[in-house]
Amino acid sequence: MKLIRYDIKLPVRVRKYEVDTEKLKYVLKESKKNSSKTIKQISEALERPKTEVEHWFRSDNCFSIPSSEIWLGLKEILEINTDEFDVPITTFEIREGVFDQANRVYDVQGLSPTLTTSGEVKILVDKNLNYKGARFLKKNNLKLNKHIKVLSLFSGIGAFEKALHNLNVDVDLVGFSEIDQFAIEAYSTIHNVSKDLNLGDVSKVDINNIPDFDLMTYGFPCQDVSIGGKKNGLSEGSGTRSSLLWEAMKIAEVKKPKYMVAENVKGLIGSKFQEDFNKWITRLDNLGYNTYYKILNSNRFFIPQNRERIFVVSIRKDIDSGKFVFPDGHDCNYKLEDILEPVVDDKYFIGNLKDFESYNQDEVEKVQILYKDRILDAEKKKNYLQWDVSGKGYNSQQDRAFYKDGLCGTVPAANTGNKLNVYLGGLAVRRLTSKETWRLMGFTDEDHDKVKSRLNEVFYKGKDKSIPQLYKQAGNSIVVNVLEELLYNLLKN
Ligand SMILES: C[S@@+](CC[C@H](N)C(=O)[O-])C[C@H]1O[C@@H](n2cnc3c(N)ncnc32)[C@H](O)[C@@H]1O
Repeated sequence: MKLIRYDIKLPVRVRKYEVDTEKLKYVLKESKKNSSKTIKQISEALERPKTEVEHWFRSDNCFSIPSSEIWLGLKEILEINTDEFDVPITTFEIREGVFDQANRVYDVQGLSPTLTTSGEVKILVDKNLNYKGARFLKKNNLKLNKHIKVLSLFSGIGAFEKALHNLNVDVDLVGFSEIDQFAIEAYSTIHNVSKDLNLGDVSKVDINNIPDFDLMTYGFPCQDVSIGGKKNGLSEGSGTRSSLLWEAMKIAEVKKPKYMVAENVKGLIGSKFQEDFNKWITRLDNLGYNTYYKILNSNRFFIPQNRERIFVVSIRKDIDSGKFVFPDGHDCNYKLEDILEPVVDDKYFIGNLKDFESYNQDEVEKVQILYKDRILDAEKKKNYLQWDVSGKGYNSQQDRAFYKDGLCGTVPAANTGNKLNVYLGGLAVRRLTSKETWRLMGFTDEDHDKVKSRLNEVFYKGKDKSIPQLYKQAGNSIVVNVLEELLYNLLKN
């Protein structure tokens, strides 16, 4: 046997331009000398520990460059007039590389490396780590070696199917139901199934022709209950898209599968829809099912996205052991930056970064960002920066950027272009790429790339035009990691 080592490349933030440290040391020392401010006062004013501040005024090897966040504040305190360090100190870029021993893993098939007292050795279980967000189940090698017959309704890109695949479940798909041509193409590409298995419009299926199955998945449309939508509701017979739920109930009534799982926005259990929700659960009860529901947030499942969704699990009473519990998730500290692509095309940046060096960042009180060719003041909110392009107020969802060392907001289902931005520091804000939004839903880069090429080929004569559809498909889907743990708990007994 031989040792196999894998270096995991990670995006790291590095300085874009060199800082002339000798000159900077001199400027800092001189300004400090001429200023009446003590280290303690500077430390308090900038809310930085004294030990950190001291290093800015050292002339030996212990000198450190002040961080980009406080540089302009420090200039003001010490009355430094030159702008020459502004751009080098505040401009970073993301590069991919292995900079840390901790980012190595060793193959379980190989020999262990020498253990050191301090070094933590990680053993590789999943060789297909796309990014740091390794899945709990895969990491712990929990698998379900089962065979199961599945009917998938409102299939989208098939998050349930993806989760079952990751759990090693052998899925016998009796049919799927989807009406969106882009989703149908994506679904058949990811899951390698024939489009002939598509039953089409759920309200028109011939129920008696569907073969028997064990599990029905039905993440029905949420437009009529979600905050963004018009809230027309889901009442039976109302004709709204969300009321397609009742079509799924008609199938349940005839086919009586062992398990059914639905997912939707959490507004479904809000007061406005309470009556319909209760009616649904009562219908399931009358059909012979015990139903369990809970709101789960994907941020507890190794995904740096705040996405709260309600999961509704029904188990046929005659087989319900009463042992099903929802997964609790884990305390994770994944950050948006963990899923960022290291290098992206200039078009994703909302400002023209090439021109930004000509801007003078003096006397900045708020964080400033580049918006097209102008600089805007952005307010620092808890989870994101918010700016105001139109002058109508600091509240548009489109005009915000999530901090890269925090969690991203919910990936939306809009196909009008992705509205999620990340703040990279300095003046730089950029939109998330479609690949990043797929990562935030627990799909792999391979899934994304395969679907992208397929959609371009089928719908756009090979031109690269599928990106709006890819954003929409991610936002419409369900976080695979959450489903993995939920389905594991449901099917393990
Ligand atoms: C919230 S999405 C579900 C996404 C899916 N769970 C996934 O993993 O991607 C709802 C899906 O229902 C589909 N849909 C809407 N009306 C439908 C109908 N009458 N019959 C079948 N599917 C329909 C939409 O095209 C959309 O893809």
